[in-house]
Amino acid sequence: MSVRTIGVVMNGVTGRMGYRQHLVRSVLAINEQGGVTLSDGERVKLRPVLVGRSAGKLADIAARHAIPDHTTDLDAALADDDNLIYFDAQVTSARVKAVLKAIEAGKHIYAEKPTAESAQEAVALAEAATAKGVKNGVVQDKLFLPGLLKLKRLIDGGFFGRILSVRGEFGYWVFEGDWQEAQRPSWNYRAEDGGGIVLDMFPHWHYVLENLFGRVESVYARAVTHIPSRVDEQGATYQATADDAAYGVFELEGGIVAQINSSWAVRVNRDELVEFQVDGTHGSAVAGLRNCRVQHRSATPKPVWNPDLPVTARFRDDWQEVPDNGEFDNGFKIQWEAFVRHVLEDAPFPNDFASGARGVQLAELGLRSSAEGRRIEVPQL
Ligand SMILES: NC(=O)c1ccc[n+]([C@@H]2O[C@H](COP(=O)([O-])OP(=O)(O)OC[C@H]3O[C@@H](n4cnc5c(N)ncnc54)[C@H](O)[C@@H]3O)[C@@H](O)[C@H]2O)c1
Repeated sequence: MSVRTIGVVMNGVTGRMGYRQHLVRSVLAINEQGGVTLSDGERVKLRPVLVGRSAGKLADIAARHAIPDHTTDLDAALADDDNLIYFDAQVTSARVKAVLKAIEAGKHIYAEKPTAESAQEAVALAEAATAKGVKNGVVQDKLFLPGLLKLKRLIDGGFFGRILSVRGEFGYWVFEGDWQEAQRPSWNYRAEDGGGIVLDMFPHWHYVLENLFGRVESVYARAVTHIPSRVDEQGATYQATADDAAYGVFELEGGIVAQINSSWAVRVNRDELVEFQVDGTHGSAVAGLRNCRVQHRSATPKPVWNPDLPVTARFRDDWQEVPDNGEFDNGFKIQWEAFVRHVLEDAPFPNDFASGARGVQLAELGLRSSAEGRRIEVPQL
């Protein structure tokens, strides 16, 4: 079978996500495995064209991975007809301008979330891509995590009966940067630079809720900045103008209530950095990034509230691990493969800019809910 190579312009590869998950774990890993296999057996390899602001950093990455093409000139990369796809993992605030340029150049677009900082811009991107007739996709990696795939398997198998509620707990302590270096970039904590945990995480929660449980119909959120000042990459103290924690309640179609706490100011007392507990009439599950535990109604203990007695029951022992029953590949890579098939043979790819815009809309309404102190209905986009 023949092997074909297509150019992929990758903007933002010096960043955390662009480098590790998208370049190394996805694009280069796809080439190492021999490419993406299309339905007729043809294999497609990806030729990354690294784009960024720092020629030196790009050259370092290119040398490390023997990548011939790198440039600081986005226009030139977009002008090359061999480059079919534009990928964007820049800081969020730089995304819209570059993506619009790439749409104008007729490239198919794959982008990190959030696709924009406002719902209006996110919708405009979706409309621009549709008008130009280019394929478009947004990273929705959590859907491909083993833990959530197992949860989806339970839902599809009817394990829960009627689903009542979802409780999500996400977060970890992000160091302030003074006596220990922060493990996230400082722009995450500045609203003026596209930061904030609501804009970062609500798009994720949106596609998880929409894909697994149903449409999000309303949101109530309280977004706060627990740590008011931090120290940046250069050692300078700055004001944290963006929210670093958000406590949200989402009402879903069918009456399911989802509550999700997101925080960069919480210490982990969980098995994983994110966990979702789903309670249904017939059973419950707790899913993390990798694992998923269940308790069926037939194995549900009957606790009786009595604070006078010490707790002897080991409640966690009453849960059962869901088996893998298969191999789980890197979620980012799976989505890249799906997007390449979408571009080249029109394979389905539901994670499009329209769904990305619904995620940005939820973030925007979450912030509004917090500012106004009220529950807000989510209009259908
Ligand atoms: N899917 C996920 O799980 C996930 C996780 C983290 C971040 N993200 C998203 O990925 C994107 C990148 O996040 P990151 O954590 O990799 O950020 P990062 O700060 O590590 O990287 C940002 C990249 O953008 C480039 N850039 C372009 N214009 C810039 C500017 N004006 N200022 C600063 N940098 C600029 C930087 O050079 C760098 O390559 C964000 O949109 C973020 O929301 C997604």
